[in-house]
Amino acid sequence: MRLNLPGHNLRVKVMVGTLLPLLVILACSSYLQYQRHRSEMLQELQQSAADAAKIIESSLSRAMMTNDRLEIQRAIARIGAQRGVERLFLLNKEGKIAVSTVPQDAGKKLDIKDPTCQACHADERAIQAAALVIDDGAGHRVLRNVHSIVSRRQCQSCHPSDETTYGVLIMDLSMDGIDRQLREEGESTALWSFGALALLALTINLFMRGLVVRPVERLIHAVRAIGQGDLSRRTGLKSHDEMGELAQAFDLMAEGLEGKATLEREVHDRSLALQAERDKLATLNTIAATVSRSLHLEEVMESALDIVLELLGLRAGWIFLHDPDAGRFRLVTARGVSESFMREEAVRPLEGCISRVVQETGVGAIMDDIGRCPRLSPEVARAEGLGYHVCIPLMAKGQVLGVLNVAAPLGDERRSFTEDRLQLLTAIGQQVGMAVENARLYEELQRKEALRGQLIEQLWTVQEEERRRIARELHDQTSQSLTSLLVGLKMLAESSQSQGVAEQAAQLRAIAAQTLEGVHDLAVQLRPSDLDDMGLVAATEHMAETFAGGLGIAVHFHALGMEGQRLPAAVETTIYRIVQEALTNVVKHAGAVNVDILLEHRGDRVVALVEDDGHGFDVEGALGRDRGRLGLFGMQERAALVGGTLTIESSENGTTVVVEIPLGQHNEGTEGTPELGG
Ligand SMILES: Nc1ncnc2c1ncn2[C@@H]1O[C@H](COP(=O)(O)OP(=O)(O)OP(=O)(O)O)[C@@H](O)[C@H]1O
Ligand SMILES: [Mg+2]
Repeated sequence: MRLNLPGHNLRVKVMVGTLLPLLVILACSSYLQYQRHRSEMLQELQQSAADAAKIIESSLSRAMMTNDRLEIQRAIARIGAQRGVERLFLLNKEGKIAVSTVPQDAGKKLDIKDPTCQACHADERAIQAAALVIDDGAGHRVLRNVHSIVSRRQCQSCHPSDETTYGVLIMDLSMDGIDRQLREEGESTALWSFGALALLALTINLFMRGLVVRPVERLIHAVRAIGQGDLSRRTGLKSHDEMGELAQAFDLMAEGLEGKATLEREVHDRSLALQAERDKLATLNTIAATVSRSLHLEEVMESALDIVLELLGLRAGWIFLHDPDAGRFRLVTARGVSESFMREEAVRPLEGCISRVVQETGVGAIMDDIGRCPRLSPEVARAEGLGYHVCIPLMAKGQVLGVLNVAAPLGDERRSFTEDRLQLLTAIGQQVGMAVENARLYEELQRKEALRGQLIEQLWTVQEEERRRIARELHDQTSQSLTSLLVGLKMLAESSQSQGVAEQAAQLRAIAAQTLEGVHDLAVQLRPSDLDDMGLVAATEHMAETFAGGLGIAVHFHALGMEGQRLPAAVETTIYRIVQEALTNVVKHAGAVNVDILLEHRGDRVVALVEDDGHGFDVEGALGRDRGRLGLFGMQERAALVGGTLTIESSENGTTVVVEIPLGQHNEGTEGTPELGG
């Protein structure tokens, strides 16, 4: 802190600046006054001394005329006793003291160089009267009046006429009175001057204090306060002088600074809030991205727990999920805890634990010490070395699907779990809850899909079985019966004598032969025996030929890499049925002139392609729009059931249906392969 030394004080500076010249002026004028007064008093004293000397001379004249020495002596003594006369003596012409008020002085001779003599004899022409001030060196002063007793006419009766001077009367008058008066006046002048100066100093002080110092001090305090960061400080000065203007300008500046600081603070606060919000969103994003990487419940739980622990910098955590089948919460995953801890957590009912509270209320909670959890035995809790424990609900659609727990090591600071942190965790819990819900729905969907697949598979198997049975029936029984009928009619025609019977028998034979052919075609369509006996290539080629006949469509069949080998029965049936449906669609919808059929064995896959040059169609529209149509849907299902894919590309130049089935998962040949409709 800076010292407020007198030299640095504005009041002192102004006072010194004002009082010092005043003091000099006062001192000079007092000195001049003193000198003038002193010289006037001296002159007055000199005049009095001169007058007194003349009176003394005239009073001594009679004694001197009569040369009455005694009388002279007495008169000198009498006058010398007067107040103010310190010494009085008479010098004779030789400069000797003839008569004196001090008897010891009698006879002493004054040297002509003595200042007393020099007072008159300093010049060639000596004067007759003079006065000088004699100081005894001890501060005592006297005015010495030197008065020559000059020759007069009546004196010449006794003295020669050429003598001009008969002696000198010297009188020392005390200057104590003058000095005392001068001293008293000086003291009084000094006192008044000091008083005036003190009054002036006081006035200046008050004036400076009110008008300058106080405002300046307030200004300084305000500047310091603002310098130290207190931007709300104002001078509060309202005067209309320059100081007031300065203070107002300062206050305005401070207001501006405060406004700017407030704005900066607001911007800063908002930036922090935005940053926090961004961090929160980034965290939630990370969680969402992590938990959505998988749709498998176990994986979702594990990755959720890992990422939450990583985010919080903790190592211990575990998750309970509600098991709808068992109707209770069960432990699904855990990290950083011992087997015995997990056992207790898994087995003991949730009653009395914050997990239960969170499960019931759907609101996250913090427990200071996990050792107080009634579900844990004290030994296990102690051995785990865990301290505070945070429990958040995993929510979806307002339901608590599970509870996520994290715990910090003993002695860890609780500040990691502020309210904000708990809110973030709760939001994370909702994300994870949604992921749990999605995973569950996905599992449900998977289950239903599998069931549906099984049902379709069963349906088609039954359908193919039935077709095969009917085809066999038609072949073995109906065809046999019709053949027998044909033979019987032939025999009847040959053995009959009647022309009419023979003709009728011939007609019936023609009908029976036609029916036999129809029954044969129907049996082939239902379940071509080629497919079972000679395999996919032969059966498909036969189907191609059948389609070509009489429809005005040229069917071109190609087989690549399929020579002499049989595919799994399920694959053969699937491809056969898909090609059959594709060809049926060409006939029904395409308006095509040419159709190409390709069967190809490519590496570990088999590919079937049906390509027409018809007018094409909107594949996505057809697939999404009309679920009543089963052809395209059935082709997809069939391909998917054997692990294959079906692609349909269509434009105004035609349509291409491609089915690709991997063979790796199917055993070669029909042995051991589930007969999917084959
Ligand atoms: N090769 C094709 N060329 C042109 N349009 C086609 C072709 N294949 C299918 N389509 C169109 O796609 C639609 C759906 O075919 P899909 O086989 O599913 O049903 P559908 O043949 O009409 O009836 P079904 O259920 O008896 O098979 C057809 O109605 C037709 O408009
Ligand atoms: Mg169809």
